[in-house]
Amino acid sequence: MKLYQVSGYQEMCQKAAALLCSQIAEKPNSVLGLATGSTPIGVYKLLVQAHERGEVSFGPLTTFNLDEYCGLGKSDPQSYYYYMNENLFGSVDIDSTRAFIPNGKAEDIAAECAAYEEKITAAGGIDLQILGIGNNGHIAFNEPGEFFEKHTHCVDLDEKTIAANARFFTHPEDVPRRAITMGIKTIFAARKILLLANGAGKKDIMQLALHGPITPKVPASILQLHPDLTVIWSAE
Ligand code: F6R
Repeated sequence: MKLYQVSGYQEMCQKAAALLCSQIAEKPNSVLGLATGSTPIGVYKLLVQAHERGEVSFGPLTTFNLDEYCGLGKSDPQSYYYYMNENLFGSVDIDSTRAFIPNGKAEDIAAECAAYEEKITAAGGIDLQILGIGNNGHIAFNEPGEFFEKHTHCVDLDEKTIAANARFFTHPEDVPRRAITMGIKTIFAARKILLLANGAGKKDIMQLALHGPITPKVPASILQLHPDLTVIWSAE
């Protein structure tokens, strides 16, 4: 594990954006795994700026997002589809036919999950996966539990996750209760993983995830076993 302990959100974002730009420079047709949430917003902002300066092209990339809420359509401002367009895709030269996000409105969710796995495999697997971490130790929406869910699946969100994500919704009761998420095996299969964590609120869970026992009760703890894990952590 490469651990960069940085001071402040901006430094975390700069370091992460630099690593992503190097990945794209080394392999312009990389397959990237992308996260949503508040943590990567500043990273995406820096990538948009780098694109505007002509330093990076997203054209040859393929991307797979980690997760999507069930029941929210593409035009719903709370959907992760909407988030990606607002924060990144709408401002760069990405080929939208190769920017994949699970369809939260799919009629057959199980089929959607299976098809998502197949698309990742068909793309040759993920070269670099960006992750945030939930207050409860989740990665993507793999919530604490008794075992590690392997593949892309539909999950009942943890009460802690619903409470944490309520900040993005006008009414807390509007937070969806279910989501489609890549599984732990899907994430773990990425050739490189970049875990980002920011703020004092993530301090205890990061300590546990990186240095505690490896257990499905702290899903992020599995990352200790990944052969190419980079962590950029601002605990301020
Ligand atoms: C988002 C995701 C989640 C978030 C996590 C942290 O696609 O999969 O696991 O990374 O909930 O969220 P923030 O960054 O809002 O603290």
